[in-house]
Amino acid sequence: MTPLPLFRLLQSQGFGSRKACREQVLAGRVTVDGRPCLDPDAAFSGPGRLLGVDGQTWVWRDKAYLMLHKPAGYECSRQTRHHPSVFSLLPLPLVNRSIQPVGRLDQDSTGLLLLSDDGAFVHHYTSPRRHVAKTYRVTCKHPIDDGLAGRLLAGVQLHDDPVPVAALACQRLDEHRLELVIAEGRYHQVKRMVAAAGNRVEALHRYRVGNLDLPAELGPGQWRWLEKADLDALAGGG
Ligand code: URA
Repeated sequence: MTPLPLFRLLQSQGFGSRKACREQVLAGRVTVDGRPCLDPDAAFSGPGRLLGVDGQTWVWRDKAYLMLHKPAGYECSRQTRHHPSVFSLLPLPLVNRSIQPVGRLDQDSTGLLLLSDDGAFVHHYTSPRRHVAKTYRVTCKHPIDDGLAGRLLAGVQLHDDPVPVAALACQRLDEHRLELVIAEGRYHQVKRMVAAAGNRVEALHRYRVGNLDLPAELGPGQWRWLEKADLDALAGGG
């Protein structure tokens, strides 16, 4: 990568406008690889670079790939109507990058939400043609009858679609809970499938996308970067 003036490097990482980034450097708020730098035009290459802003260190990243443990009560859009946005759970430099969710979760659903500013990546993992498996733990309102999993596996008819939609896998976990794997990501898909099969979703938690699991140590509302092993697990799963 061709070296870039420091203010541009900062701008690419979501630290604000050109002017704001120049000012942060001139104000002495920025370090590069741990050393203060007061020259906004000093040139550095991005890869491997540690940028410190107001005492917080950021590794330069060409593209942002991250996972968030979405809590209930948050909407996945930037402009929300009734609930806070998942973007309010992320630090400002990330919000300033044009990251978007890779497939949404409903306001009341919880679990693994991927976000990125890599348009090709987002498209790849949301495209209906890719058939990336999404695994949910579904809590049902009514006791799960013996036939529910079979009906979901055989395929159920959703109102807007003449072709039945089938689960990739479905297993009853206990009287009220199912593990359900689906390939598509249609609007309210799990809720509509379970309703069409004769029950009702009370709670929905996504804990795997492809072969990538929501890590146990990532609590509700917490996020972390996706590292190479995570991206490999994702790619390995579809
Ligand atoms: N299916 C749903 O019905 N809701 C979600 O949030 C995700 C999948």
